[in-house]
Amino acid sequence: MRVLGIESSCDETGIAVVEDGRRIIVHGLSSQADIHARFGGVVPEIASRQHLLTFPALLRDVVQRHDGELNLDAIAVTYGPGLAGSLLVGVNFAKALAMAWNLPLYGVHHLEGHVYANWIRDGQWDGEDHGDPVLPAVALIVSGGHTDIVLIEAHGRYKLLSETRDDAAGEAFDKVARLLGLGYPGGPVIERVAREASDPVRLPSPLIRDSWDFSFSGLKTAVLRLVNERGGTEALDQAAIANIAAGFQQTAVIALADRLLEVARATGAQSVMLSGGVAANAALGAEVLRKAEMPVWRPRPALCTDNGVMIAARAAFLIEQGAQPDDGALDAVPSLRMGMTLGAT
Ligand code: KG4
Ligand code: ZN
Repeated sequence: MRVLGIESSCDETGIAVVEDGRRIIVHGLSSQADIHARFGGVVPEIASRQHLLTFPALLRDVVQRHDGELNLDAIAVTYGPGLAGSLLVGVNFAKALAMAWNLPLYGVHHLEGHVYANWIRDGQWDGEDHGDPVLPAVALIVSGGHTDIVLIEAHGRYKLLSETRDDAAGEAFDKVARLLGLGYPGGPVIERVAREASDPVRLPSPLIRDSWDFSFSGLKTAVLRLVNERGGTEALDQAAIANIAAGFQQTAVIALADRLLEVARATGAQSVMLSGGVAANAALGAEVLRKAEMPVWRPRPALCTDNGVMIAARAAFLIEQGAQPDDGALDAVPSLRMGMTLGAT
């Protein structure tokens, strides 16, 4: 079964064809990061307009790069959560394609999509084929807007066990990068700068004590206080910036890994999965691998951040379970949470 997946919830435009939810046939991705970088973050109006401009060219590129017929069985598109205007552009583009090509259309939950990047066989971080993730699994979903830990009992059957009470992990990376004058997006640049650190600073943990939830805003505020104490961003030299970036990354990564594994042990999960943009972080991957007593699934970094592949992969399992297509009734739902799903779940 071949599904064309469409993604446009934030600042990446993605179109990909995936076979049986596991094998990439063709993958197209266009990032707007450079356009938003000069504003220090994503500007929603620019993002939706850019998706509109990019989709037709990206589709043409995907079709041309593939040798032979695509032989599609369905179209899938992210319908939430994300930026309202950006989601709408994707949903309407998908509707038009489904109608023109006479194919069923399935709405995909963006965060579920992130998790299903783990089913892509050539997509693991070490280039190895680890097979399908073993269920029940506990998945950490760490993106620009979410920090969730979810128990996945079976396809489409899951429980939200932990979330952030304020900032998401990715948001904290982005805000700390801005504080340190490192630009947008923050995750990759913090990861790079942190490698130069000689003496990482110590910062308070974002773990909440009497619950499995996170609170990243305190960690961000602690960085702000530290920067101010040292006379502001302009007063910091490269070594100081590296030590703050590394201290922040280390604190965030240890908290995410420890909490993920704590929840996995408590629920008797057979494996853990990493997903979402922050899962591209090598320090996070290494920390989880080092501490986990169970198998770890983690997509290669390019499939951790937003893409069309994961949307097509998720849809394949929805279809396999007998979900009805959404077709013309599909609407964007910007504030969709984990545990709220359309379809057969
Ligand atoms: O999943 P994603 O691409 O988009 C959303 O659904 O939000 O995640 C984007 C987030 C951004 O906050 C970005 O700074 C973060 O993922 N990110 C990283 C890395 N690459 C992207 N955070 C830490 N280390 C990275 N290497
Ligand atoms: Zn995402």
